[in-house]
Amino acid sequence: MAAAPERESFRPETIPGRHVVLRRHRAENLRTFLRWYQDPEVAGLTRYQQSPLTQEEIQRFFYSRIMGSDFLSMAIHLRDTDRLIGTCAFSQLDGDNGSTLYHITIGEHDAWGKGYGTESTQLMLRHAFTNLALHRVALTVFEFNTRAIRSYEKCGFVVEGRARQAIFRDGRFWDEIHMSILLDEWEARGGGEF
Ligand SMILES: CC(C)(COP(=O)(O)OP(=O)(O)OC[C@H]1O[C@@H](n2cnc3c(N)ncnc32)[C@H](O)[C@@H]1OP(=O)(O)O)[C@@H](O)C(=O)NCCC(=O)NCCS
Repeated sequence: MAAAPERESFRPETIPGRHVVLRRHRAENLRTFLRWYQDPEVAGLTRYQQSPLTQEEIQRFFYSRIMGSDFLSMAIHLRDTDRLIGTCAFSQLDGDNGSTLYHITIGEHDAWGKGYGTESTQLMLRHAFTNLALHRVALTVFEFNTRAIRSYEKCGFVVEGRARQAIFRDGRFWDEIHMSILLDEWEARGGGEF
């Protein structure tokens, strides 16, 4: 079962969509990462800690998780202009069990709410269930991140559990929601047809 048969099909140069194109990350993307990940609003949506990462932490994150081989990370570019707007990735790729964990961050605020993240996730799911021959893609998301939850639901993810009151934000506790999509659910929705 699954994962890493050969490099190009595992980590393609590009995965083209209608409005976005996913590309392999390049070293110069670090400059943009430094801006995105020092942004308190991005940190608030993606991290347990409210404080953004330090420059050094962002550099370490970039070289290990974005450019490194343990994660399958792809840069999200707008198709028309090639502008870099975000990043998405699979971590914990487990070929024995056909599963992985999905992550996405559109770092540019003006690119939120325009369907680019949802389309990127759909492209990554198609990659997971066809080229990587995976069986399950899972993710976690904070309960207050309603845009992300809605985006994942649109891609076919379903809630499978919650870590209750796992994060304290804005004066109250919120759950961390666990979502996943299985191969047969993805196929029943028409697979990569979107
Ligand atoms: C979460 C994210 C990937 C979603 O991608 P996106 O392209 O912005 O999402 P979409 O434009 O497809 O919107 C998804 C849904 O949320 C709705 N939505 C948009 N803005 C919203 C908002 N501020 N609050 C609640 N829902 C919102 C949209 O209307 C859409 O639902 P609909 O089609 O039923 O109308 C992207 O916004 C992002 O990366 N945000 C910052 C980092 C982050 O939150 N990452 C996820 C961590 S788990």
